[in-house]
Amino acid sequence: MLNKRDNKRLFALMLGLALIFIFNPASAEQLAAAKSPEVPANLNLNKMLYEKFCASCHGVDLKGTKKGPPFLHRVYHPGHHGDGSFFRAAKNGARAHHWKFGDMKPVPETNDSIIASIVKYVRYIQKQAGLF
Ligand code: HEC
Repeated sequence: MLNKRDNKRLFALMLGLALIFIFNPASAEQLAAAKSPEVPANLNLNKMLYEKFCASCHGVDLKGTKKGPPFLHRVYHPGHHGDGSFFRAAKNGARAHHWKFGDMKPVPETNDSIIASIVKYVRYIQKQAGLF
């Protein structure tokens, strides 16, 4: 028979397992190894905009460059950096705080609809890479 204490232990174990299952993000290695996915035709324009305005630092493959961080990284999971942070970064720039690349300057050639397109593309690639 299970006594009260055993029940508690069992419950803690199950909770632990459930948490591991829920918070099991793709590892950095998995993300780095992810191949560049095919981009559906309806995202071609989004991709072009990303490449024009963001890829010089964040990488054509979203894996970063010497000038900026990768978006295929759990730091940029939508739950951590929501879509709003993309609009803010493009409009106002971003203070260096997660990395050692320095500040991101604003990208004044963009506007809300361009950024909305770019975010859609970034989220698509992140999803394909198993980030969320
Ligand atoms: C000249 C280089 C450069 C370009 C171009 C650039 N970024 Fe960045 N971006 C950076 C750097 C460097 C950081 C890292 C700041 C830090 O340390 O957190 C960053 C961070 C960000 C962040 C995270 C902001 C935060 O709140 O932490 C977002 C979102 C972002 N960039 C979006 C974009 C988008 C969208 C574009 C294209 C429109 C773009 N960036 C173009 C260099 C760049």
